[in-house]
Amino acid sequence: MIETIITRDFGTPAKEITLATEMITLTIDGYQVTVPAGTSLMRAAAENAINIPKLCATDSLEPFGSCRLCLVEIEGRRGYPASCTTPAEAGMVVRTQSAKLQEVRKGVMELYISDHPLDCLTCPANGNCELQDMAGVTGLREVRYGYEGANHLKLKKDESNPYFTFDSSKCIVCNRCVRACEETQGTFALTISGRGFESRVSAGQSESFMESECVSCGACVEACPTATLTEKSVIWLGQAEHSITTTCAYCGVGCSLKAEMKGNEVVRMVPAKDGKANEGHACVKGRFAWGYATHKDRILKPMIRSKITDPWKEVSWDEALDYAASEFKRIQAKHGVDSIGGIVSSRCTNEEGYLVQKLVRAAFGNNNVDTCARVCHSPTGYGLKTTLGESAGTQTFKSVEKSDVILVIGANPTDGHPVFASRMKKRLRQGAKLIVIDPRRIDLVKSPHISAQYHLQLRPGTNVAMVSALAHVIVTEGLMAESFIAERCDLRAFDQWRQFMSKYENSPEVTEAITGVPAQQVREAARLFATGGNGAIFYGLGVTEHAQGSTTVMGIANLAMATGNVGREGVGVNPLRGQNNVQGSCDIGSFPHELPGYRHVSDTTVRTLFEQAWGVPLQAEPGLRIPNMFEAALDGSFMGLYCQGEDIVQSDPNTQHVTSALEAMECIVVQDIFLNETAKYAHVLLPGSSFLEKDGTFTNAERRISRVRKVMPPKAGYADWEVTVALSNRLGYPMNYKHPSEIMDEIARMTPTFTGVSYKRLDELGSIQWPCNEDAPEGTPTMHVDQFVRGKGRFIITQYVATDEKVTRKFPLILTTGRILSQYNVGAQTRRTENVKWHAEDRLEIHPHDAQERGIEDGQWVGIHSRSGETVLRAMVTERMQPGVVYTTFHFPESGANVITTDNSDWATNCPEYKVTAVQVMHVQQQSDWQLEYARFNEEQLGLAEPVV
Ligand code: SF4
Ligand code: SF4
Ligand code: SF4
Ligand code: FES
Repeated sequence: MIETIITRDFGTPAKEITLATEMITLTIDGYQVTVPAGTSLMRAAAENAINIPKLCATDSLEPFGSCRLCLVEIEGRRGYPASCTTPAEAGMVVRTQSAKLQEVRKGVMELYISDHPLDCLTCPANGNCELQDMAGVTGLREVRYGYEGANHLKLKKDESNPYFTFDSSKCIVCNRCVRACEETQGTFALTISGRGFESRVSAGQSESFMESECVSCGACVEACPTATLTEKSVIWLGQAEHSITTTCAYCGVGCSLKAEMKGNEVVRMVPAKDGKANEGHACVKGRFAWGYATHKDRILKPMIRSKITDPWKEVSWDEALDYAASEFKRIQAKHGVDSIGGIVSSRCTNEEGYLVQKLVRAAFGNNNVDTCARVCHSPTGYGLKTTLGESAGTQTFKSVEKSDVILVIGANPTDGHPVFASRMKKRLRQGAKLIVIDPRRIDLVKSPHISAQYHLQLRPGTNVAMVSALAHVIVTEGLMAESFIAERCDLRAFDQWRQFMSKYENSPEVTEAITGVPAQQVREAARLFATGGNGAIFYGLGVTEHAQGSTTVMGIANLAMATGNVGREGVGVNPLRGQNNVQGSCDIGSFPHELPGYRHVSDTTVRTLFEQAWGVPLQAEPGLRIPNMFEAALDGSFMGLYCQGEDIVQSDPNTQHVTSALEAMECIVVQDIFLNETAKYAHVLLPGSSFLEKDGTFTNAERRISRVRKVMPPKAGYADWEVTVALSNRLGYPMNYKHPSEIMDEIARMTPTFTGVSYKRLDELGSIQWPCNEDAPEGTPTMHVDQFVRGKGRFIITQYVATDEKVTRKFPLILTTGRILSQYNVGAQTRRTENVKWHAEDRLEIHPHDAQERGIEDGQWVGIHSRSGETVLRAMVTERMQPGVVYTTFHFPESGANVITTDNSDWATNCPEYKVTAVQVMHVQQQSDWQLEYARFNEEQLGLAEPVV
């Protein structure tokens, strides 16, 4: 799928066509054209292959009408109206070319060019500059005003942003960047300062881009028609010569990106306009932070060693795979068939995940397979399956454009899911109401032109009490969607739920003592959600990563059902998935109890289907979950692990417990692109391939399956799926796939919700939201439309049970954790990019009151102790926190955030309770014992990785 890099620009956005849309016909340059009413003349012409010159218009932004290049003549009208701002009308007769128009346009161009550097041949935009194009199109041959008048040619470049430059001398003040920052991104970091000739684009209050509010999304760079805003990669490498559409490998938004290439080198990433998850937008990670793929730290040669104190030995792929296979066989012969297992990565493709779980079930002969979704969204799987019948979100992201009330609970979209956040913010600026339930004052609570109607700033660990209080108000004040419930839900379960929720113990007045949120606020928020029109719920790890994570997910589904907010656009229950392929890794059978398509391994019919297809008997009992693997390792019964693309040492809670378990194992095979923290405990290191080096698919938070396309050959020789195939063959279980499309074909054959999915179909449709089968050949944007997947929606009683993790005199504060925009999870990728310029270390956010009480000042080192361990970070004193609660991110291994988290977990799924750890914080002078030992161990391991050939 090699494409040209030029994408057609229609000048103004398309009008949505619905059944109610009126179509109108007019004449442009003698051709009859028919378009939806409200379409601009510029777009009407462009859709019919008539290109009107333009500079300030672009089809991702509302028209502005400033450059006057797009003037046209309309019969019966005086003057020359701008075609970008003039709507087409039925019967209009329009001319886009005439001698007079040519003269006016030339005049406009002369003015621009007289104040523009004439360095086209050495300009980075040469070959991709709209100003240059327009000079050509308008036939500009001379500039009558000369170049000596007042101009801006000496203005200084702003190179503060690591990814793009701002060269004001080339700016034509078309306002596209300002509008992109407002309309597309919603950050409002740019303004036009000054008037007339003095007008200039300015970041913030005449600050540099890095000092301003800019979040480096790149929307302005993309919108700029000149070289004023240009990617540094383009400045270094020149213009790309072809592009390949693929999918971002960072978060669960799943943005479609065009990798613009020169041979095998990425020149830049451009969000695909037709990408349904992102519609032409991206964030600082997807658009800019891809340099890790070619970072010098990449592991490119397989390595083995007998003990983790031995130096690594570089070996051939054959030797490494033979060694891994022989070790797994040896361990099984010694400790039994169940003594080994595998971990599927939510960073890898669906096809790779499918192969790892197949390897474990068919080649290892057990069900000891789990995935990192265990530690993030496993409660979503359990909670939504139980209540609605399917372990997935109900909507498309686009659906938020029809929401009237948006409830965000335990999620921080502007940092974790930035492109979706931009879409959500757009809807909020149009007037939708916002309720935020979060212990921290996240940016969404108050940002430019957005202010949450309610911020229910609850104490960490009290989500269930909060959700029950909302339900109590809805039930007792008669705000339920009675007919929806009567028609769509299991009435017995509903009656029980209603009785339970009516109890005084669930009232906001009682739960106030638990959540800390005033009852009146909760009552008003509940009324708004229940009566404000289409209500959509978006939630994240602040819901799931709790001892009662599954209970809150079910509580959220209850709220949606009780208010009739399921089964159409603008509503729904929407888990914001963390990693790029969390949804997919769950879909394709990575949990120890489920075969692909969420079918229990104990279901004989399903198991028989797989046994016949795979030609081996399968165990009927669920295998070990990740925490059980650690326990079994410490017991001596689990001795071998195949870990693909996961860093369990950094990402799983209670680090000391994890490392002790790994140290107890006899053979750990890590497949990764870097020597990550887990690899330091490994015996076999198989080089992984980045998303740029392989074919496959990712499934985002909307259930959208999108193609990942190889844009360069695997740096270490093999894509990850090929390595799993080779390992399986050595273990005596043959796998014979020639291409990932064959793996997807097998997934489709074996999984009822995927039967219509194939690479051919994905190429045709761009992406597909499962279920995709005979009933839904083009996929399913909205789920549970006429009835719930499980038949009747099932209300579940959600009894609040306080977590065991209590504040005490010894540990008086609650630590909660999360992410920041510029970094990504364990940081293995983003730490190896310029994104460290925004966030170079994890910090501990603490309220001024708590800081003052402890004599802590901003920027000082603070020790954080919990009953699990101790680490040291620098403090950030901020009123974003509530008193009694501290917060940190977990992007840097030396911070050891998970040294302090405990092994408490969700009652249903074992998802760790990352969000609630009782801690004490105090001012300290040096690193913790754990950090000192980590530094020593890390140095030792890096030394052992120096190649010995
Ligand atoms: S990079 Fe994004 S946030 Fe920054 S100024 Fe441009 S559009 Fe605004
Ligand atoms: S920086 Fe680019 S987009 Fe912004 S006003 Fe100048 S020329 Fe237009
Ligand atoms: S929002 Fe997520 S998927 Fe989109 S570009 Fe950013 S990190 Fe990638
Ligand atoms: S493109 Fe219409 S006025 Fe600039």
